Amino acid sequence: MSTARLEYNGQSWELPVVEGTEKELGIDISELRAKTGMITLDEGYGNTGSCQSAITYIDGDKGVLRYRGYPIEQLAEQSSFVETAWLVIYGKLPNEAERARFSALLTKHAMIHESMRNHFQGFPNNAPPMAILSAMINALGCFSPEVLGNEDESNFEESAARLLSQVRSIAAATYKMHIGQPMMYPRPDFKYAENFMHMMFSVPNGRITPDPDVARALNQFLILHADHEQNCSTSTVRMVASSGANMFASCAAGVSALWGPLHGGANMAVIQMLEEIRKGDLSPAAYMEKVKDKNSGLKLMGFGHRVYRNFDPRSRILQKAADIILAKLKIDDPLLDIARHLEEVALKDSYFIDRKLYPNVDFYSGIILRAIGIPLDMFTVMFAIGRMPGWIANYKEIHDAPRLKINRPRQIYTGATKRDYVPREERG
Ligand code: CMC
Repeated sequence: MSTARLEYNGQSWELPVVEGTEKELGIDISELRAKTGMITLDEGYGNTGSCQSAITYIDGDKGVLRYRGYPIEQLAEQSSFVETAWLVIYGKLPNEAERARFSALLTKHAMIHESMRNHFQGFPNNAPPMAILSAMINALGCFSPEVLGNEDESNFEESAARLLSQVRSIAAATYKMHIGQPMMYPRPDFKYAENFMHMMFSVPNGRITPDPDVARALNQFLILHADHEQNCSTSTVRMVASSGANMFASCAAGVSALWGPLHGGANMAVIQMLEEIRKGDLSPAAYMEKVKDKNSGLKLMGFGHRVYRNFDPRSRILQKAADIILAKLKIDDPLLDIARHLEEVALKDSYFIDRKLYPNVDFYSGIILRAIGIPLDMFTVMFAIGRMPGWIANYKEIHDAPRLKINRPRQIYTGATKRDYVPREERG
């Protein structure tokens, strides 16, 4: 085993170096504090490996993304979301019996419990869909008694299927509540993406026939979001799971983390930015100037990534998928032209080149979601549906670990040193 040497104040320590299956190296500092009395400081965790994981591999310099070893390009082209979900969760492609059993469980659990449907009435009509989703996933745990007591191997698959199936039903029910239409029951004869389209866009007296091209685009969107190693929401899921909390509580926390505009909320922010430019409030060139001005507080949304420093492979696939679905649906979306124009300008601009900023997964995904009729305020919910397999898989890794170790980082304290309490009447 190779080691790294740390020297400080005339002393030195050997620290083991851990090597991953793709030859990534990490200095194991798990005994650092015990040996040296010191901790590491890495705000934002850009240099910190929080775990060893066998789910997803990213090489940010080369633009590589693989789930369980399979390249994202192959999965987006050849797999379905449900198959990819099983792969991400269980680590191998399902055989026919495994696929059929999981599909049957998804169908069995697609319907929301009748009592849970009443919960929707308690939200104001304009409640943000991500708030509803997070609350409802926690509520779902209450309707899944097996997880609240003792979750084990025998009911894990049932819980995973319940969560994966119902996140889609909850999302569609939220939309229906928002637009004042009756919630639609799922159909057992439809596949995952088709069923979602049905629950979103059918009405009791007018059922849609899901378009296979739309279903394919939706499958691709979901596959591309299925996991992305230790991002903010997945780390949150692992953090919560490490306390022994159940799968539903852990994934509900993931939804909250995903909500922010620097994470999953970026797909909405991209469309809002493109709309702003389209309306003529700012020309693309003027927008770019503002983005480069640190005082403006603006960012080019859908650009940049903590890990990808060359290109985001998901963005390339989604750009192609956007072209295909818009052509098939005969939609001429001016936002796509603006997006292409911004990308072209950014890729030639030294500000973006020097900082290695490229389009990320959110830059083109919104164009696809718009084309298939998903309203803007549901975009981040769509990301959450897609990310569910990754959250479940990461939850499973924590749950299956031989020893549950709670995640508990340290800090460097920078507050006041010891001082004595001042009675109220003596304070200035
Ligand atoms: N537009 C303009 N400048 C940017 C952008 C951007 N989109 N992204 C980064 N920068 C600048 C940043 O200001 C900094 O400049 P300087 O070195 O002069 O201070 C430099 O590039 C490095 O950026 P950073 O903020 O230190 O990078 P990070 O790794 O902490 O942040 C990020 C990554 C994705 C949060 C950031 O690039 C960003 O805010 N992008 C826009 C929001 C977005 O599209 N988010 C979706 C991310 S992908 C999907 C997901 O994870 O959910």
